[in-house]
Formats: sequence, structure tokens, C-alpha cells
Amino acid sequence: MDEGHLHITMAPEEGEEQLSLKFPEDENILGLNQMAVRIAAIRSITDIPFAEKIYAVLKKDTGIEISDESVGADANTYSFVQLEARFKLINIIINERGFKNIFEIGSGYDTRGLIYAQDPNNTVVELDLKDVISKKEEIIKEANINKPDNLKLKNGDALNRKDFETIFKLFPENEPIVIVTEGLLRYFTLEDKKRIVENIKYILEKNPDSMWITSDLCINNFMIEKLPKEKVEAFDKINYPFKDEEESLKFYTDMGFVSEIRPTKNEPFLALSYAKKGLNQEIASKAWNSVEILCLKLKND
Ligand SMILES: C[S@@+](CC[C@H](N)C(=O)[O-])C[C@H]1O[C@@H](n2cnc3c(N)ncnc32)[C@H](O)[C@@H]1O
Repeated sequence: MDEGHLHITMAPEEGEEQLSLKFPEDENILGLNQMAVRIAAIRSITDIPFAEKIYAVLKKDTGIEISDESVGADANTYSFVQLEARFKLINIIINERGFKNIFEIGSGYDTRGLIYAQDPNNTVVELDLKDVISKKEEIIKEANINKPDNLKLKNGDALNRKDFETIFKLFPENEPIVIVTEGLLRYFTLEDKKRIVENIKYILEKNPDSMWITSDLCINNFMIEKLPKEKVEAFDKINYPFKDEEESLKFYTDMGFVSEIRPTKNEPFLALSYAKKGLNQEIASKAWNSVEILCLKLKND
């Protein structure tokens, strides 16, 4: 890892300064998922509830510090604000639609589950890989955060239908469920993406008012042609198969969904925690305005 610096790969917009790129040679930090850890570090300096406490514990293992210098670097500002924006916009959508049953797949070290489980009327389930879930349980204890009984952390595999069958039974019968994937699908081949989508459909089919909310448009706008060959190969591992929004939406439509895109640009600028850090406001608000979240419902034919 770079000392004191944190570089993360997010897609800059056309013409945007290329981000400092870091590739997956250190895929696992102490067996933890690298990107999930980095995202937790980045969110720790936002006003997202529990994020600071969670990362204070995780930091002991990873040693990654978010320095002011790192936040202030323009290329980082862009991706840091995007990460804050997508988390907040997904929650805005959940709140608007009044979902009480939330199932997040690949939740990593994010705090959405903890946030929504504070309301005892909600049922919240997180699914992630075994190492991540057991680490998360440990962190919550060590951080002295109360884990309400309506928050269930389940280890399993997004590719495994049986895990979805088990998890479905944890929710109250006949009530709509919102499924969230934030930064999950890009790590899978197209074939495995389809398997995960079929598993998500299995749950949505049980109730027509259920919805899938995702930031995973998987659009390849990394300006790949500008990168050295070995970096392009590294990017191939992280799978962004769609060349633009149209192609991404076609994938979801072909899989049986109707989609609605929800941009942050219709929302007030909420990345206030970063704004306080004195970063470049123009870049921050451009980053905020660049995020789009996809809301997917099953076609009802
Ligand atoms: C980029 S992280 C995103 C974490 C979180 N959604 C966030 O925004 O902070 C992707 C997460 O997906 C999880 N993941 C990867 N493969 C998975 C699988 N087959 N089943 C379930 N989770 C998986 C990783 O362990 C990691 O926590």
C-alpha cells in the first residue's frame, strides 16, 4: 500500500483528469476485501452514521490513514465524493419509497445495515463473504456499537441460489423487499453477473412491489486506450462490459427488468463532510452531480 495515500479507481468522466490508479495486486489486505476496506476508510471522514467508528477499528488492521493531503488531491476528491454520493442517494431512494425490509448484497464494511436497523420495525439482512462478515461482527463489537436483533449479518455467496432461499425466509411474509448492490457486480464476469441477477430476481418475483437499487451500471468509461497495456489487463479483471448507459440498461432490460435512472444532480449537494475539508468545491460538486443510481423492478408480463 502507499503510505499515507489512498488511491481508488473510479470512473472519471470524459475529459476528467485521470485518477491516480491503483491495481489489484494487493487484492486482499489481511484477507479482507481491498476495495471494501478502502471505501470504509473514505467514508470514515464523512457524516455517514457509524462510519467513523467502524473504520477506527478497521484501521488497526489496515493502517490506511486518510490524510488531508489525500482528500485534497483533486483526483481523489472526485472519487471520494462519488462514493459518499452513491451511498447517500441509495438511502434517499429507500427512504422515499418507505421500504422496511432491506437486503444488501456485498455490504462490505458499509453502515447501511446499522443505520436502517435502528428502526425496530425494519428487517435488515446483509450478505457478504465469510471473512468480511466475521470481521464486521468483530468490528461492531469492538467499536461498542449496539447491533440490534433486526440486523442479520449472513455469510455466503451472491452466486449461490441456496443463500437467497435462506435469506428470503428471514423477511416478514408478503412485504416488499429492497435489494441493494453497491459496487458488487463489477467484480464478476458477464456470466456470473447474470447468475447474481437471476438470484436477485428469485427474491423480487416473490413480491411485485420489491425493488433492486444499484450503483452497478458497470460502464467502461475508464478511457482505457490511454492506459499502459498491463493496466488494461488489470482492468479486464474488474469487469466493466458495457460501453455506455444504453448498453448497460439493455443488459438489465434483457434480464427482465424495467429501469429508472436516478441522478444525484436533482438532489441538493450533500457531500458536506468533504466540503468541510476545504477541498475543491467545483470538483466536489461535479463529482456529486455525476452519480447515477439504477432502480429496477421486474417487468410484469
Ligand atoms: C467494493 S466492495 C463494496 C462494499 C459496500 N457495498 C460499500 O459500498 O462499501 C464489494 C463487496 O462485495 C463482496 N463480495 C465479493 N464477492 C462476493 C460474493 N460472491 N458474494 C457476496 N459478496 C461478495 C466483497 O467482499 C466486498 O465486501
